[in-house]
Amino acid sequence: MKNQFVLGPRSLKILPLRLTGGKIQGELEPPADKSITHRAIFFSALSPEKSVIENPLLAEDCLSTLRCFQDLGVPISLKNNRVTVAAGKKRSGSVLRLLSKPKRALDCGNSGTTMRMLSGVLAGQPFLTSLVGDASLSRRPMLRVIDPLNKMGAQIKSANGNPPLRVNGSFPLKSLHWENKVASAQVKSALLLAGLSAVGKTCVWEPVKSRDHSERLLRSMGAQITQKRDAGLAGGCAVTVRGLAGALRGLHMRIPGDFSSAAFFIAAALMSPGSKLKINNLNLNPTRTGFLNVIRRMGAKTRIVNARMKSNEPVGDLWVEYSPLKGAELKCCEVPGMIDEVPILAVLATQAKGSTKIRGAGELRVKESDRLRAISLCLSAMGARIAERKEGLDIWGPCALRGAKVRSFGDHRIAMSMSIAALLAQGKTEIVDFDCVRISYPDFLQDMKSVIRAQKI
Ligand code: S3P
Repeated sequence: MKNQFVLGPRSLKILPLRLTGGKIQGELEPPADKSITHRAIFFSALSPEKSVIENPLLAEDCLSTLRCFQDLGVPISLKNNRVTVAAGKKRSGSVLRLLSKPKRALDCGNSGTTMRMLSGVLAGQPFLTSLVGDASLSRRPMLRVIDPLNKMGAQIKSANGNPPLRVNGSFPLKSLHWENKVASAQVKSALLLAGLSAVGKTCVWEPVKSRDHSERLLRSMGAQITQKRDAGLAGGCAVTVRGLAGALRGLHMRIPGDFSSAAFFIAAALMSPGSKLKINNLNLNPTRTGFLNVIRRMGAKTRIVNARMKSNEPVGDLWVEYSPLKGAELKCCEVPGMIDEVPILAVLATQAKGSTKIRGAGELRVKESDRLRAISLCLSAMGARIAERKEGLDIWGPCALRGAKVRSFGDHRIAMSMSIAALLAQGKTEIVDFDCVRISYPDFLQDMKSVIRAQKI
């Protein structure tokens, strides 16, 4: 299999499966969940008790979170695929650990989750901190956390609502009832974190329920969190945290596999004739598996086995096999449950019979790249029939993709989506700036090689 992939200093050249007679087969354990790893580090760092996190995701985004907390004086160590946070002092009047003012600006790298959730933590710390990020993060909107956190009593400043941020925190904060216009787990988590340092109850409402890992983890650590779904079909959800209550206990957990990372291989198996793949130890939290619902509507043959609960999160193993697909319509309310899977869904739609319409996905324009633009440029270059809409995409299939030279736009999810598209193309594809996969899935290429059974190389 030595020639199917040629990895240059930054770019990856991929030969399609049809040239190597390959298919996707075997078993895979995806990397640990990125969102849960971030939160496990955040909440362990804030608990004054000792915590142990097994199988954390050691990818660039989560390492940014880890380093920021080290800079805030938290004794975190990383050894043998385990993060240990030593016990520390509790701040008086608070349920949280005493943090110290960092000596330098906190570098959030490429990670929106780190910057937004840290803003929530620092809002309740009585010192001044700066938060900085890389070029992509410096373009991302932060007013969505700045406005509510300032209402709670923090003073957060930024130029034009983008990073860098200067956070002048205060303690205790005022409680808040906040209506989020757009569902966002990062914003919700930031406000819940600030709510832990506020007097009384802080409530965050969102129009569609976003991923609820923060609620599950914080509750298992002793925080007083309640959830209420709106009546009717709208699907809105309110989460309330009681501040300064319920001592935050230490955390002992193993992080399950990341559904968003697994989605690339689910798609590869669905599109490649003869494929059958088992993905083990996968987080199947229903606020994350919207992609599964959509591909099942498209005709995907999938089966969950060994479903179980681990550390308050649903986990299972997933079988997926090659399936002829038909197009589907994605409703606005389905987007939050598969927000990071829209680019790979677009790839899948190029191979599905009929049209696929994706709507209500305007948030994709303010992710690590403008993902609607990036995926439609890349797939168009490969000959796909795809049209960009203001808040979505239209894709018509099935369509024979041809190999091309495409850019990742420095966005890990675009790089991986295009790697899967390349497996189906007629000729060789080159993905420039492939190395950004280190943000969420450093072993992506090794895992791809491990599940491809090629006959001719
Ligand atoms: C994340 C939430 C999502 C997602 C991001 C990770 C999180 O963003 O796109 O990759 O860990 O909270 P939203 O804030 O839009 O929900």
